[in-house]
Amino acid sequence: MKVLLFGAGGLLGSSLYRELSEKGFSILAPTRKNVDLNDHVHLEDYLRNLNFDLLVNAAACSKTDYCEDHRDECFRVNWLAPLIMHRIARNKGALFVHFSTDYVFDGTKKEYFEEDATSPISVYGFSKAYAEKSIIGQGGDYYIIRTSLLYKENGNNFLSLIPEKILDGEEILCTDNIKSAPTYVPYLAQATLKLIELNLPFGIYHISGGYPMTACEFIGIYERIIGKKAKLRKVREEEMNRRAKRPKMSFLNNFKFVSLSGFIPEHPEVYMRRVYERISGKKD
Ligand SMILES: NC(=O)c1ccc[n+]([C@@H]2O[C@H](COP(=O)([O-])OP(=O)(O)OC[C@H]3O[C@@H](n4cnc5c(N)ncnc54)[C@H](OP(=O)(O)O)[C@@H]3O)[C@@H](O)[C@H]2O)c1
Repeated sequence: MKVLLFGAGGLLGSSLYRELSEKGFSILAPTRKNVDLNDHVHLEDYLRNLNFDLLVNAAACSKTDYCEDHRDECFRVNWLAPLIMHRIARNKGALFVHFSTDYVFDGTKKEYFEEDATSPISVYGFSKAYAEKSIIGQGGDYYIIRTSLLYKENGNNFLSLIPEKILDGEEILCTDNIKSAPTYVPYLAQATLKLIELNLPFGIYHISGGYPMTACEFIGIYERIIGKKAKLRKVREEEMNRRAKRPKMSFLNNFKFVSLSGFIPEHPEVYMRRVYERISGKKD
């Protein structure tokens, strides 16, 4: 099977690349230098001239605050580029796999299921919700995977960097009044492959870590694992003065995916222990 993977240099894309390679897929992974997703004429041209059976889009303008001030780029990369990818994939009879976010919801419910109406409150959330609607509207063979708060061993993002910050005694600013389910990237990458291999019905799937918590609670688990107190400064989301609004409670319920696939995420503590052991050199 020939796979075209966008965003292979990103947090999720690099794990997907690894999983797909281990399964022996033949992968073409264009970088931004090869295809800039802002340039839709080039994107169309590029896609039309390629043969592939599976197109996986892990590329995104993923910084929520950045999107507030760069609406045009955000909508071009997060909405219009996936729309073009999906249309061309569908015309070639290829499967399209796209990633979305808990930020398509406003966070006023206790938990969210696949069929809940989207209600974004940020530019990023709108761009991702528009992509979902457009892909659904175009039909064909697709999976839209909504996920939340990614972390992994070598990720350069807030959750991934916490163990090092605790070890270094660095002050960590964390919000204690918004919750979502942190998702371990290798689990998400493996779950994505399961979805494809099991040939589950096309549509939207929630694949998240399964346990909603605040950033402060997440750090609390690391404190137990590491056996060291973090230098925490707990704040409310409103005090962060961030450009984009975040949903208060955006737990993506995994029931549909887990019940159809049987692939259950471990408790975050298991993954976090793995992250800590790897970065502290206790394991390869
Ligand atoms: N991170 C999270 O916590 C989170 C939570 C929920 C959902 N998601 C979703 O999960 C998916 C993966 O997110 P991620 O965190 O892995 O993203 P990421 O680490 O920011 O990686 C994004 C990838 O997209 C590429 N990209 C961005 N703009 C591009 C452009 N104009 N042309 C070509 N490539 C471009 C980046 O390339 P460069 O390296 O060149 O910039 C990078 O490889 C996204 O759909 C995101 O919305 C993420």
